[in-house]
Amino acid sequence: MMNCLQSWPEPVVRVQSLAASGVRAIPERYIRPPSHRPLTKNNFSPPQEANIPVIDFQNVFSDDQRLRDEALRNIHSACQEWGFFQVVNHGVSHELMKRTSEVWREFFKLPIEVKQEYANTPATYEGYGSRLGVEKGAILDWSDYFFLNYMPESLRNPNIWPATPASCRELVAEYGHEVCKLGGKLMKAFSINLGLEEDLLLKAFGGEENVGACFRVNYYPKCPQPDLTLGLSPHSDPGGLTILLPDENVAGLQVCRNGSWLTVKPVPNAFIINIGDQIQVLSNAIYQSVEHRVIVNSNKDRVSLAIFYNPKSDLLIEPSKQLVSDERPALYPPMTYDEYRLYVRTKGPCGKKQVESLKSPRPCSEC
Ligand code: OGA
Ligand code: NI
Repeated sequence: MMNCLQSWPEPVVRVQSLAASGVRAIPERYIRPPSHRPLTKNNFSPPQEANIPVIDFQNVFSDDQRLRDEALRNIHSACQEWGFFQVVNHGVSHELMKRTSEVWREFFKLPIEVKQEYANTPATYEGYGSRLGVEKGAILDWSDYFFLNYMPESLRNPNIWPATPASCRELVAEYGHEVCKLGGKLMKAFSINLGLEEDLLLKAFGGEENVGACFRVNYYPKCPQPDLTLGLSPHSDPGGLTILLPDENVAGLQVCRNGSWLTVKPVPNAFIINIGDQIQVLSNAIYQSVEHRVIVNSNKDRVSLAIFYNPKSDLLIEPSKQLVSDERPALYPPMTYDEYRLYVRTKGPCGKKQVESLKSPRPCSEC
């Protein structure tokens, strides 16, 4: 099993190079079967005006109990009803957000030979990559990415973070630090909202020093046939929670809501937060991860920065005892995040299949 993860099954094609070559028709490898294609303006679809909730985060730890309770209630209903929301007044410097996304844009503009020095393998996924999963012959997504470990510090390899642009490493370190602080606050808010001690979720993840955090910068080049392909296949995020800085100027993220795909309208200077599979497990499905995907377009490339806030990878994650009862038995068996993510790293994005497949058999009363 581990052996097949040492190298890619086929030569790697950089989507950015394909796009830059000026092809008018995308290669067959990127074409999805008709039922999995995005609905664009060429196909009729009713306009989807609704947007995910926008949460003002500044009152979450206010001394004024009324304001605090209200902010926490808003977060709780966003988690329960959507699994996806945007946060404003989140405490991360807007300037830092701009500079960090700008530096990654610059990185992707570097000549291919420079980026190739960071080419990744499926053994760790760290570095410059163009696919997720090692299934030979799989349909590929219209994107490239850069993946790196940020936390715990023992897994950090700044020497394989981009050395150019010159400020990249420094910005990654500073941005990672600020965003992880926000991640810790979100974990606290979720714990309180689930009726748990406020540091329970963070402790389950290994505590502040040991939590995992990974950085994934997604680059979606312009695409000559955006209605035949996707920038990122439908998936739920396997980790704890995701803090995404979308491209300010280009929409692309779609969230699955009641069976249809809703395009997220990014609010300026907001982060998009979503629940990952590990919080679904810990909360015994009170909160659930939500399937999402990315569409591309023919006019503008798009850059997004995701920080995945994850459990320390060798800890067993299971439904919190306080959320398990005779009426609501544990829905998932204990599993480490290392074991869990091997599936997505092998198979690639697969909707919500993985977390669903973990469900223990139904108790007898329901058979
Ligand atoms: C991801 C993801 C969305 C985006 O990286 O897991 O869902 O908008 N990204 O790039
Ligand atoms: Ni995702």
